[in-house]
Amino acid sequence: MKNKKQFRELLLKWNRKENKRTMPWKGEKDAYKVWLSEIILQQTRVEQGWNYYERFIQQYPNISALANAKDEEVFKLWEGLGYYSRCKNLLHTARTVNEKYAGNFPAEYDAILKLKGIGAYTANAIASFCFDLPYAVVDGNVLRVLSRYFGIDIPVDSTEGKHFFSRLAQECLDKKQPGEYNQSIMDFGATVCKPVPLCNHCPMKVTCTAFNSGNVAVLPVKQKSIIKKERWLSYFIFSIGHKKFVQQRTAKDIWQNLHEFYPEETTVNPEWDIKKINTWLKTYFNIEKVKSIYIIAAKKQTLTHRFIHGYFICVDLFTIPEKLQDANGYWLTDDEIKLKAFPRFIHQFTQKKAIQAQVL
Ligand code: ADE
Repeated sequence: MKNKKQFRELLLKWNRKENKRTMPWKGEKDAYKVWLSEIILQQTRVEQGWNYYERFIQQYPNISALANAKDEEVFKLWEGLGYYSRCKNLLHTARTVNEKYAGNFPAEYDAILKLKGIGAYTANAIASFCFDLPYAVVDGNVLRVLSRYFGIDIPVDSTEGKHFFSRLAQECLDKKQPGEYNQSIMDFGATVCKPVPLCNHCPMKVTCTAFNSGNVAVLPVKQKSIIKKERWLSYFIFSIGHKKFVQQRTAKDIWQNLHEFYPEETTVNPEWDIKKINTWLKTYFNIEKVKSIYIIAAKKQTLTHRFIHGYFICVDLFTIPEKLQDANGYWLTDDEIKLKAFPRFIHQFTQKKAIQAQVL
């Protein structure tokens, strides 16, 4: 295997001379800020997370400000980032650190790892960036760089691969400057050794195994490509006058506690038309007559493990159906709706000036 010391030196030299990447959390030592940025960046692209990070820091400049915030307000600020358990854990950990550690993040690795929402990756990032502890981060960028440079074709998502690459990453780490090294390898993966890499401009190509054997395009190897599950969600937007029916989700899934319009999930494409909608309204709500019905074009969102298809169906009612009188929802104006946190999927839809659109 190629020389790890040489890899480390080439990487750090690239960082000093050529790394132009700037990000608001880069070089940060404040564990609150590093932690917040790393939680936002789990499953979120840097470009998307950047604005959220800045808004969070502005609104909650330190951990006690976040710990003392209202859940609703924090969820609203998180709106659109998805994977809401991250936000729930964020609040939980802010409160733990505020109470148990008097607002100061613990500086010991095991204590960091015990906090909710912090796995090995995030603990390693916080420990190295803030406390100069020798822990190597391993994310998608790191796996790509290491598998190519050292020419390793063990699947990165296999048990063997996970052990192999954590050990390799740890052996390559510069233990004297672990924070700088970790940031360098992530930046190198994000800007040079990208999925479609810039080998022409790469200062490591002379000693890169994959470059010299023509294997750049096939590394890293993945055991299984993710099989995406399809979900079909239809939202009925019931309105009376200027108010619309909204409820809070209780299901324990990725959208728990967020708001939504009246949902109907089907296993296949419901292919709504006016006739089908009228039958549905009669069957489930005993509604015979409505003022108007609009079907808004289906939207599609792609998540890591799912394709979500959605229909938005606006139904203007004469009176509140019995079933919605007992439901634990509210009737809200468009302005009130804007203050509630919705899944990104619905949020994009509520941002349209009027919740009305092209009739299919
Ligand atoms: N992704 C996760 N953490 C990151 C960091 N510190 N810099 C760039 N991308 C990241």
